Amino acid sequence: MQLQDMLFSQGFGIRRVCSGLVQQGWVELWNEEAQDWDKVQDSMLDVQPEGLRFRVQGQEWQYQALGYVMLHKPAGTECSQKPSAHPSIYTLLPAPLRQRPNKGAIQGLQAVGRLDQDTTGLLLLSDDGQFIHRMTSPKKHVAKVYRVTTKHALDEKQLQRLLAGVVLDDDPKPVKAAACEIVDSHVLDLTLTEGKYHQVKRMLAAVSNRVEGLHRWKIGELELPADLAPGEWRWLSAGDLLKLKPSK
Ligand code: URA
Repeated sequence: MQLQDMLFSQGFGIRRVCSGLVQQGWVELWNEEAQDWDKVQDSMLDVQPEGLRFRVQGQEWQYQALGYVMLHKPAGTECSQKPSAHPSIYTLLPAPLRQRPNKGAIQGLQAVGRLDQDTTGLLLLSDDGQFIHRMTSPKKHVAKVYRVTTKHALDEKQLQRLLAGVVLDDDPKPVKAAACEIVDSHVLDLTLTEGKYHQVKRMLAAVSNRVEGLHRWKIGELELPADLAPGEWRWLSAGDLLKLKPSK
């Protein structure tokens, strides 16, 4: 693959811009043998993209044919490209991740499902359509664990109802929690394998309680890392991706 095509595929702009970045000396490639960075000037240089480490304007990147990242979503952000009242989560990603081309069009990484503006925690983004489908389809049973802070004290009866299934206003089919664990009198870990609109809030309302705080800390077997601060993102490792396999 030509260097300028590799940069284009990673979201560094149209090929002319990528070629300009190289010609201006802004691109370096990691030289494993020399254990050092090589400055390159030829934008048509043939590179082997798999496993490639490169720097653009001093910042290091790794080539990813398809991109998978996790973001610690802060409160007061919307999971939409066109937010209505709060900043978009996409502003937390560097430009290349927002500009990666997909099937010819600039689409960038997309959020895997949505969290409400006031919900915090683990959000995945990718440009792999099959991965997004697998993670969001209720049929695939990927568990999502929410730490829910409630207005009223929790009791066994509420838990039993959440586990047995509650009816949400617009939907005759009851929705169930896959697991429910009381952490504290007003704190609950609720596991869902689907993601209907405001599902946790509506489920808690259906058992006469109210959500005061909502934080997603686990998807599949992948936990939000303690050292990923709100607003920060990171690539998913191969090990992280293995932890995201469906449970059924
Ligand atoms: N359920 C909700 O009510 N809100 C979220 O953000 C996620 C799940």
